[in-house]
Amino acid sequence: MAHSLPQIAILGTGHMGGAILGGLQQTPDSWAGIRVTSASAATASSLAGPGVEAKSLEEDAQANRWAIEGADIIVLGVKPHYLLGLLEEVAPHAPASAVMVSIAAGITVAQMEAVWPGAVIRTMPNTPSQVRHGVTGLSVGSRVSPEQREAVVRVFETVGAVLPVEESSLNALSTFSGSGPAFVYFFIERFVEVAREHGFTPEEATTMVQGTFAGAMELLESSGKTPEELREAVTSPGGTTQAALGVYEAADLSAIIRQASAAAIARAEGMAKG
Ligand SMILES: NC(=O)c1ccc[n+]([C@@H]2O[C@H](COP(=O)([O-])OP(=O)(O)OC[C@H]3O[C@@H](n4cnc5c(N)ncnc54)[C@H](OP(=O)(O)O)[C@@H]3O)[C@@H](O)[C@H]2O)c1
Repeated sequence: MAHSLPQIAILGTGHMGGAILGGLQQTPDSWAGIRVTSASAATASSLAGPGVEAKSLEEDAQANRWAIEGADIIVLGVKPHYLLGLLEEVAPHAPASAVMVSIAAGITVAQMEAVWPGAVIRTMPNTPSQVRHGVTGLSVGSRVSPEQREAVVRVFETVGAVLPVEESSLNALSTFSGSGPAFVYFFIERFVEVAREHGFTPEEATTMVQGTFAGAMELLESSGKTPEELREAVTSPGGTTQAALGVYEAADLSAIIRQASAAAIARAEGMAKG
C-alpha cells in the first residue's frame, strides 16, 4: 500500500458504486482521498462533495486515468459486460501496488488476473448496502497482500457485513445475499396480495406485512434468541399458527428454496461460460 491511509478510486459510480461511496463518506478520516467517475456529467456532479472528487467521461475522456492516479484501491463499479474492457483501459496506467476490486456478477478472479498483473479482489455486495445494512461476499486473488485484503474489507464494512469466502462459494453466497433482497420483496408482495384478498386496503395490507417483517427482524436482532425460539414462542400447540405452518411444511418450503438456489447457481455458471 503506497499510503498509510488508502487512496480510493471508484470507476463507475451508479447504484452500487454510489452506495459504497456513501459508506466511505461516513468514515472520511479512514481514507487519504476519494476520486470517483461516471459516464455522464450529470451523475458526476451529484457525486462530488466533501472529500470526494468526481469527473465524468463526458467532460474528460481521461477521467478514469485521472481517478486512478496514486490509488491504492480501485473499485470497478461498471456493469459486468464493460468490466474487462475498463480494466484493460486502465491497467497500463494504474499504480503497480493498487488492488483492483470487482463488484460485478459473473466476472472471475482469473479473468481479471489475466488483464491486471497486480492484486485482484472479487466481491458480491447487495442492495441494502445503500442503507449500510448490506452483506458483501469477498474472494481474494492469488496476489493480494494481507494489508490489501484488510483495507478492502474495511471499505465494504462501511456498508454492512463482509463475509470472506472461497471464490467457488461466491455463486452460492449470491443466491442468498446477492439475490436475497429480491426474494424477501417477492415474499412481501405475495403476503400483501393474499392479505388484500381478505378485504384489506393496499395501505392496510402493506402496514401489516411490512410492519411484521421489520418488527420480526428487529426482535430477532435485539432479543438474542434464535429464529426457532421466536417461532416457537408464537406457535401454540394445536393453534392457528401451527395450522398455517403445517401448510408450509406440506409444501416443503426447504425443497423450493433448494431448487431456487440451484437454479440461480446454474444460471451464474452458464453466464461465466458465456
Ligand atoms: N445493483 C445491484 O443489486 C448489484 C448487486 C451486486 C453487484 N452489482 C454490480 O454492480 C455493478 C454496477 O451495477 P449498478 O446497478 O450500480 O449499475 P449502474 O447504476 O448502471 O452504474 C454504473 C455506473 O457506471 C458508469 N459508467 C458507465 N461506463 C463507464 C466508464 N467507462 N467509466 C466510468 N464510469 C462508467 C455509469 O455512469 P452514468 O451514471 O453517468 O451512466 C454509472 O454511474 C455491476 O457490475 C453489477 O453486477 C450490482
